[in-house]
Amino acid sequence: MNPWKSVPHADYERHMSHETVGQLASLSDITHEKVQQIYPQTVVVYGACTGNGFAHFTDARTVYAVDLNPTYLAVCQERYDPILNELVLVQADINHDPVPIPPDSVDLIICHLFLEYVDLSHAFASFRQVLRPGGLLNVVLQRSNDTGWVSNTGVTTLRPVAAIATEVPDETLRQHAQPDFRFEGSQTFRMPNGKSLVSYDFVKQGETPSVDEEGADFEWPEW
Ligand SMILES: C[S@@+](CC[C@H](N)C(=O)[O-])C[C@H]1O[C@@H](n2cnc3c(N)ncnc32)[C@H](O)[C@@H]1O
Repeated sequence: MNPWKSVPHADYERHMSHETVGQLASLSDITHEKVQQIYPQTVVVYGACTGNGFAHFTDARTVYAVDLNPTYLAVCQERYDPILNELVLVQADINHDPVPIPPDSVDLIICHLFLEYVDLSHAFASFRQVLRPGGLLNVVLQRSNDTGWVSNTGVTTLRPVAAIATEVPDETLRQHAQPDFRFEGSQTFRMPNGKSLVSYDFVKQGETPSVDEEGADFEWPEW
């Protein structure tokens, strides 16, 4: 069984918002920045967990939350369904299951601290399928900087997930993104515990659609 199915959501949030970790707030800030960059109508969050950052999606038409843990998705729904236009829960293990989102339909993919736990080929195949040409893929990876994968916050239930985590080198990420995701830049955020978060932007290449679902003429915004 995937160890992420056994981590209680309250433990995960307690660990991630601990003063020495501070990652939940930083990840939410990065999501906010991406929303303000492109004002997406359709968003997918891979590894959505309990919905960190979802409060920034109130202007989007549809938000998909993808995660293998149904308990996390239930918490996400309880918290954010009331404030979002349409929240679609997708319980899927990206390594094995299809992700039932219409092809080329998504403006923004948020993928924060997810690639470290999954098969990169499966993840990128899904990104390629759902993101529209011109859409933005934002990936955040953790850099441990030799401090160990999980900081000591007193939360022990996260140890099994640390055992399956793999740090994804910059070069490996870029290889999986080629040839059709154009690298747009990265930003590094230093955390209080000595770790870093690195945020990468990629834009999917290809023909930009000029007609929207309803058939009306529609120009995708340049950004
Ligand atoms: C480190 S947490 C992500 C945190 C979240 N993005 C945030 O901003 O707080 C990783 C998430 O990925 C999910 N996950 C791990 N492996 C997965 C897989 N193979 N398929 C789908 N979800 C997975 C876990 O259940 C967990 O919610």
